[in-house]
Amino acid sequence: MDKARIGVTGLAVMGRNLARNLARHGHPVAVHNRTPAKTKALVEEFGDEGTFLPADTPEEFVASLERPRRLVIMVKAGAPTDAVIDEFAPLLEPGDMIVDGGNAHFADTRRREAALRERGVHFVGAGISGGEEGALHGPSIMPGGSAESYAALGPLLEDIAAKVDGTPCCVHVGPDGAGHFVKMVHNGIEYADMQLIAESYDLLRHAAGLTPAEIAEVFRTWNTGRLESYLIEITAEVLAHTDAATGAPFVDVVLDQAEQKGTGRWTVQTALDLGVPVGGIAEAVFARSVSGHAELREAAQHLPGPARASGTAGASFADAVEKALYASKIVAYAQGFHEIQAGSAEYGWDIDAGAMATIWRGGCIIRARFLDRIRAAYEADPHTPTLLTDDHFAEALGDAQDAWREVVATAARLGIPAPGFATALAYYDSLRAQRLPAALTQGQRDFFGAHTYRRVDRDGSFHTLWGGDRTETGG
Ligand code: 6PG
Repeated sequence: MDKARIGVTGLAVMGRNLARNLARHGHPVAVHNRTPAKTKALVEEFGDEGTFLPADTPEEFVASLERPRRLVIMVKAGAPTDAVIDEFAPLLEPGDMIVDGGNAHFADTRRREAALRERGVHFVGAGISGGEEGALHGPSIMPGGSAESYAALGPLLEDIAAKVDGTPCCVHVGPDGAGHFVKMVHNGIEYADMQLIAESYDLLRHAAGLTPAEIAEVFRTWNTGRLESYLIEITAEVLAHTDAATGAPFVDVVLDQAEQKGTGRWTVQTALDLGVPVGGIAEAVFARSVSGHAELREAAQHLPGPARASGTAGASFADAVEKALYASKIVAYAQGFHEIQAGSAEYGWDIDAGAMATIWRGGCIIRARFLDRIRAAYEADPHTPTLLTDDHFAEALGDAQDAWREVVATAARLGIPAPGFATALAYYDSLRAQRLPAALTQGQRDFFGAHTYRRVDRDGSFHTLWGGDRTETGG
């Protein structure tokens, strides 16, 4: 019997759709699941889409793969991934490849890659974005691992990835954990983007007094302009939806406590370790966290402040929110790309930031017209320290000034929480400030802990004798 070009184990919805995508592209695919019923169901339901080689046991599965073997595991991140690796690795031979298509933490991927490298097996942590539809019709794929493994895997992955202007949304990101690192930051940016959109909705509803259906129309209009993106598109869909049971807007019957599986949190934890300010992503993670603390919110219900429902903002307010959203989005993406560049430097990955923007243009959750602008910005200056200074973005930020500040001030005045907009504006103003109050912070640190400070006019490290005659020492 002919062998399969690639195999997928773990046939929950993502794994199943990825296997179908491969088969639909003419690649014979071996399929395996811990419980064989799922394998059987896949072949029964979708067997006519291509060549599937079902396997009941790991041994059968591995034996059905052509060499070098390409084995994709699509299971839950964490312990289940280690369990599957432990099960399959002893059956593999040098040169074979294990691809982890889950949302693994990049540090786990680095550990697994190093352990499998010892046995001559390539381990490829591949970020895959796009949800179940993306997995089936063309996701954005961010594979890490060795260049050698990409040579064998790349053509297959590029074949099933989304395409934008004929370019596949898949590229070799870099060695070991680079792919999962970039997917993690993608998700962090996804959180920030979603938070900014949520704040826009809240402002339009409570400051401008629009209904969810009217706000859906605003988002639909925005989706024809520079904000065009998958997230804006689905926002309009969700806001326009009516609950069948009550007839109320769907958004009013959903419990307002946002959950998370952890990739946004990892992005922030990693940024803290790398010393990269990612306030937009952090506020998005914290906003979900605040929403989930029902006991805090309950306790605070009667605290004084403006009543939220005002509806006093004028008709031009939606235009101001659009500008504030675009400006804040530029900041959030600039922060995410900063983290990618810092991670790349820390781990020696040599990640091409422009290539990441290129493969995020299609297939993934944050796909957007905007990503093409980021691609162009890196093309113009591959080593730019921040996207904010790119000509197009600097102009947009300049144009947004009055609106952005008005929106943040309106939110504060009306008591509408807008942490994403506020932190983005504060980051922007911090970067462009001639002087920051960090000088005072340094003075305080020196006062209470003799932590020393540097001066603007001389090199060296200084300390003032705060408890004595206040003369300065050091130099
Ligand atoms: C993607 C998504 C995907 C998943 C998120 C959801 O790129 O396809 O990001 O990975 O839907 O992890 O994350 P939360 O459950 O943490 O919101």
